[in-house]
Amino acid sequence: MNVTVAKGSLMKAQSEVLVLPVYSLTADEKSLAKLPEAHQRMAQKMAKAQEFTGAIGQSLVLPALEGSGADVLLLVGFGERRGKDLLNAVRESAGVAVSLARKLGLRTVAVDFSGKELKEDAVEAFVQAADAANYSFTAFKKKMEDRKVAQIDLLTADGKVLPKFRKAIERAFIIAEGVSLARDLVNMPGQDMTPERLAEAAQKVADSSGGVITATILDREECEKRGMGAYLAVAQGADHPPKFIHLTYTSPRPTKRSLAVIGKGVTFDSGGLSLKPADGMMTMKCDMAGAAAVIGLFCALARLKPRLNVHGVIAATENMPSGKAIRPGDIVRSASGKTIEILNTDAEGRLTLADALHYVQEEVKPEAIVDLATLTGACMVALGEEIAGIMTNNGALGKVIAKSAELAGEKMWELPLEKRYKPLIVSDVADLRNIATNRYGGALTAGLFVQEFVNADMPWAHLDIAGPAFAERPLSSYLGKGGTGFGVKTLVEWLKAIE
Ligand code: BES
Ligand code: ZN
Ligand code: ZN
Repeated sequence: MNVTVAKGSLMKAQSEVLVLPVYSLTADEKSLAKLPEAHQRMAQKMAKAQEFTGAIGQSLVLPALEGSGADVLLLVGFGERRGKDLLNAVRESAGVAVSLARKLGLRTVAVDFSGKELKEDAVEAFVQAADAANYSFTAFKKKMEDRKVAQIDLLTADGKVLPKFRKAIERAFIIAEGVSLARDLVNMPGQDMTPERLAEAAQKVADSSGGVITATILDREECEKRGMGAYLAVAQGADHPPKFIHLTYTSPRPTKRSLAVIGKGVTFDSGGLSLKPADGMMTMKCDMAGAAAVIGLFCALARLKPRLNVHGVIAATENMPSGKAIRPGDIVRSASGKTIEILNTDAEGRLTLADALHYVQEEVKPEAIVDLATLTGACMVALGEEIAGIMTNNGALGKVIAKSAELAGEKMWELPLEKRYKPLIVSDVADLRNIATNRYGGALTAGLFVQEFVNADMPWAHLDIAGPAFAERPLSSYLGKGGTGFGVKTLVEWLKAIE
């Protein structure tokens, strides 16, 4: 997909789909005044008949002007003119426009971007959402998807904004590439996206980074030497060997600052001997979505080149049942030295994170750590399919992450790391148990477990992305079913905010 900006007006555009933003149609709202008079009256009548009020998420398809080259005129609701939800309106409109074009088999779209309120951030949001809406996963389809939008023209009234808008388009595509990569990695079935293949994907990002990213892959023996008993306990039942992945982005501009992101990389979670029921296993190829977000982030970092060093760590493994698998009741020693009684082999993510966190603090000593993990079904019960949980030991870090998520259009909500619940994860026979003694607040007790492996003075945020990482139904006009790439955009915004 190609996106350009130009000075021009929608009514003269040559594209097949013309997109006109419409603010809430109050008596004095002028949005439709951009249309020629006869068309304006028709649009007003149709809006009334179809109950189109210009609210965010609404759209109305109208025939295009006689004599113009366009096929359709699409009105998209932008809500209140000075509303603070503008970027979400922009994203929704991009999704509606691209989906409509694809449905009708049309390939060119022009958008009226002349509103003064539409600045670079709106351009970036539009392009990212348009690219997301144009995505399809076709690796296993006989026929490649050919209904895709090829060209989008953003039309402005003011020629002075063109250079800024062009920069925003470029940045949007860099981030969108990272998001699409993350989606591809998640959508790939478990038998194809094994720990080895995930490591290859990370290596490929490093190899094509022009030297700013390196990948180090540790195999089972090296992890044994490092005492990663928690992580290896998960891996021991699987035929595919574990791969511990460490990506390093080194800024070309000198800096001493370094940050770390950790992604849960369970390439398939059967539950292990605590086997999941068939229904619960169906989507478990998504259990490496945190890892996918990390790899997607590094794909973007290669071209964004922020002045920060960034480390990405993934303890990749399958979680499978077999004669070699870890048993409920077994006790393992993590790299930190803390012992863990594994009472449910399906609570495996926290075991992999425990050793990844220890590694990062030993090897990297970063300024802050953010982990992303499809960690608990309980987080989905608490926050639903669209919202990730944030748990943090550092209020300031939590605030920047929440703000970054908001700017990125990814929904997150803070959950508490309640000290009073700590006794629930203490074992009778080991230091910790990997599931709580009760059934309640499972996202919180998982977060508390992970916190046991974070030094008290290390700023750390844990993002439980079990809900939004994988869409069982389309989550918005621009995010279809399957892997969503959730987290990539927030991480990019976070690094930008603290750079
Ligand atoms: N990978 C799952 C969590 C999950 C569930 C992610 C649904 C995405 C969608 C995790 O490993 C798991 O199985 N957690 C258990 C923990 C329990 C045994 C304490 C859960 O949530 O049921
Ligand atoms: Zn599990
Ligand atoms: Zn899992």
